[in-house]
Amino acid sequence: MNFQLTEEQIAVQMAARDFAKNELLPGVIERDDQQKFATDQIKKLGELGFMGMMVDPKYGGSGMDTISYVLAMEEISKVDASVSVCMSVNNSLVCYGIEKYANEEQKQKYLVPLASGQKIGAFLLSEPEAGSDATSQRTTAEDKGDYYLLNGTKNWITNGNSASYYLVIAQTYPEKGHKGINVFIVEKEWAGVTVGAKENKMGIRSSDTHSIMFQDVKVPKENRIGEDGFGFKFAMQTLSGGRIGIAAQALGIASGAYELALKYSKERKAFGTEISNHQAIAFKLADMATEIEAARLLCLKSAWEKDNHMDYAQSSAIAKLFASEIAQRVTNEAVQVHGGYGYVKEFHVERLMRDAKITQIYEGTSEVQKIVISRSILK
Ligand code: CAA
Repeated sequence: MNFQLTEEQIAVQMAARDFAKNELLPGVIERDDQQKFATDQIKKLGELGFMGMMVDPKYGGSGMDTISYVLAMEEISKVDASVSVCMSVNNSLVCYGIEKYANEEQKQKYLVPLASGQKIGAFLLSEPEAGSDATSQRTTAEDKGDYYLLNGTKNWITNGNSASYYLVIAQTYPEKGHKGINVFIVEKEWAGVTVGAKENKMGIRSSDTHSIMFQDVKVPKENRIGEDGFGFKFAMQTLSGGRIGIAAQALGIASGAYELALKYSKERKAFGTEISNHQAIAFKLADMATEIEAARLLCLKSAWEKDNHMDYAQSSAIAKLFASEIAQRVTNEAVQVHGGYGYVKEFHVERLMRDAKITQIYEGTSEVQKIVISRSILK
């Protein structure tokens, strides 16, 4: 078994680390405070090829592997998880879904601008009453011959306002249950599309989360992806890759907090010595390092399975479940190591602790991951 990264993968990791330090760190506290979307930084991220990392260069992407994607997600998330969720949704839900399942015309029209970072995409599955229970879609896409008529509301949509293109999951044949669900590419500027107010969130506050309403939106037939009724499978298969991205985000939040705690523990003195010399702190650091290493290996294994065209639905759920849980513990301990300083914004760890929570909720709660894992091991 080879744990060595390639030169190319190390170069991607370094480029992401530099970007996070030079472009994201300087304004991250203010953006979080003011809930200000990182428009300029995300544009630069796109120019560097990080918004369509795994897409074939012929469609404007960077043609990298999923391992590189995990490495980049970890580095960006160490500093700004609001930026990394935008990056994750665009890469592993929107670009992946279109590249894998859309036709050539759809790819030329939508994937090229999305993968090259000129446009941002969003993934619209969740609804007021269909979060974990994703088969219960209430948004309808009525077949009207040469177009579909889209009506309904989607909730908690990452990139809701900044996205130009939405992948919308909607019910066409209610009597068929999940087999009647379709997926469409919808443009934000189309008549009948309304963006709701920005959510005032606990964490990832500068990310752009909105409800999106559709009222009699005419969606051309050619904007349906795949066969009639393919929408639910599209969502499930795409979400497996999305979970690798969110697992890597949770890993990055944890490792960012750990690195800050490690540094602080070597500087701060108490009882006549650096606090890292006290076993109470040193053991915390040992636990954090151990949990982070385990989460990193789970993320990389799932990414490796995806790169090797294996079934990664179970491994991605395991990686997300574990990484999001250790992100809770590690960020909590990082605040504790910092003492009172950990509780104020300037030291970053309180933000990372708030950001960590969402990784147990979106792209399937921890409970959903346990459904996926238990069904997989019991089948
Ligand atoms: N690949 C292909 N098909 C799959 C699949 C997969 N990974 N998982 C399920 N399916 C298929 C099943 O085979 C089944 O098809 P058949 O009837 O033909 O056999 C069909 O889908 C229905 O599956 P289930 O019976 O297992 O469905 P369920 O109702 O029991 O629910 C669930 C399963 C795992 C809980 C699912 O509903 C789920 O994943 N829910 C969470 C949704 C989610 O992750 N939402 C995140 C929103 S996006 C987001 O958060 C982005 C963001 O902003 C950051």
